[in-house]
Amino acid sequence: MYRFQWTSDIHLDSVDENGFNLFIDSLDSNYPLFISGDISNSRRIVADIQRISSKTETHFVMGNHDFYHSSINEMRRVFRETQSYLPNNPVVFDNIAMIGVDGWADGNSGDFYAFPDAVNDYKLINDFSGKSFTARKHLMENLAYESVFYLDKLLREYEATTVIVFTHVPPYAAAHYYNNQVSNSAITAHFINTAMGDYLTQYALDNPEKSLTVMCGHTHGASVINMTKNLKIIVNGARYQAPTVSLFEIEDNYVHSV
Ligand SMILES: [Fe+2]
Ligand SMILES: [Fe+2]
Repeated sequence: MYRFQWTSDIHLDSVDENGFNLFIDSLDSNYPLFISGDISNSRRIVADIQRISSKTETHFVMGNHDFYHSSINEMRRVFRETQSYLPNNPVVFDNIAMIGVDGWADGNSGDFYAFPDAVNDYKLINDFSGKSFTARKHLMENLAYESVFYLDKLLREYEATTVIVFTHVPPYAAAHYYNNQVSNSAITAHFINTAMGDYLTQYALDNPEKSLTVMCGHTHGASVINMTKNLKIIVNGARYQAPTVSLFEIEDNYVHSV
C-alpha cells in the first residue's frame, strides 16, 4: 500500500498569507504531494513550490495559470532542472508509475468559437496574446498533441501495471462538471484535451492488464468517471481562495481516496 496527497488548482495567488499558512498546515509531511497544475502564476510559482516543498516532498505539473505573465517555453525552461517537476522526473517503483504531463485544452470539444475569450490565457500568456482566434485554436491543438506525444513517450519508457497520470486538463467532456452536473455548454472547448482522451481510450483497451488513473483539474468541478474497465478519471473540485488537499492510496493496482 502506498499513500500520497493530491491537489490541483490551489491558485495560491488568490489567497492571503493566512490562507497560505493554513494550506501549508493542512499538508502531511509523512506523504508526498502531487499537484495537477494551476499552482499560482509565473511571477511567484518558483517561491510557492519552494515553500510547499519545504513541508513535504512535492511533485507537480503546470496548468494554464502557471504560465500567466510569461510564455510556455520560458516556464518549462525555468523548471527544467527542478527535481519536483513531474514531467521530467516520474516517480516509479514496485510496478507503479506516477507520471506527469502539463496538458492543454485542444478546442475540439464543444464550440471553440462560441466563447473565444472564455479563459484569460489568451490575454495573459505571451504565446496567445495578440493572436487571432484561429491562431489560438491552432496553438491549443499543437499543445494538446504535444502532451499526447509526451505521454506516449513516458508510457513506453516507464513500464508498470499501475499507472497514474497527473495532467492539468481533463481528457473527456464527460468529466467536465459544472454546478455538480456534466457541462453541456460549448465552453467545454476551453476545458478538455480530447486528443489525450482519444489516445488514452485506445491505450487502455490495448493494455487490459494495466490499471490507469488520470488525476486532473482545470474545470474546478469534482468528478470521477470510469471510461473503460481499467481507465479512471478523477477531477479535483477546487475553489479560489480555498486550497485543499486530499489523501489517496494505491492498493491492489487501484487508486482511491482515504
Ligand atoms: Fe484552475
Ligand atoms: Fe486551469
